[in-house]
Amino acid sequence: MSKLVRISFSIEESLFHKLEKMVAKSNYANRSEFIRDLVRNKIVEKQWDKNCQTFGTITLIYDHLRTHLSHTLTHLQHEHYKYILATTHVHLNKDLCSEVILIKGRAKFIQQIFDSLRQQKGVLHASLSMSSIGKDLT
Ligand code: NI
Repeated sequence: MSKLVRISFSIEESLFHKLEKMVAKSNYANRSEFIRDLVRNKIVEKQWDKNCQTFGTITLIYDHLRTHLSHTLTHLQHEHYKYILATTHVHLNKDLCSEVILIKGRAKFIQQIFDSLRQQKGVLHASLSMSSIGKDLT
C-alpha cells in the first residue's frame, strides 16, 4: 500500500458545494474516498483512450429464438477465445437470454468485439463496462 499524503487545494466556493453534494449523495465514507475514485476513474479512462491493456465486461440481452443468433454470438466469442476469460449465460425468461462476457485485451480490440456482438440482429441491449487490469490504480 502506498504512503498517504495530505494535500490542500483551492477551488471555487460554488464548485466546493457541488462537490460536497456529490460526496453526500454517493454514500462515500468521506471526501478523500470520493476524490481517490475520481482520480482512479480518470486513470482508467486514459488507459482506454491510449489503447492500453484493459479489462471489460460485456452484457448482452438477446432473443434466443432469433434464427442463428445464439450460434453467431458463440461463434464470435470462439474467434476471440484467447481474450475472453469467461462467459455466463442466464435465461431471463421463455424467450430472452443474457450473456455476461469477461474480456481482457487492448481497449480498441475490446471495443471492436463489443461492436460486433452488439450489432447482431436480435440483440436488444448491449453494454460495455470499461475497467482496468489494475495497473497504476495504487
Ligand atoms: Ni438462454
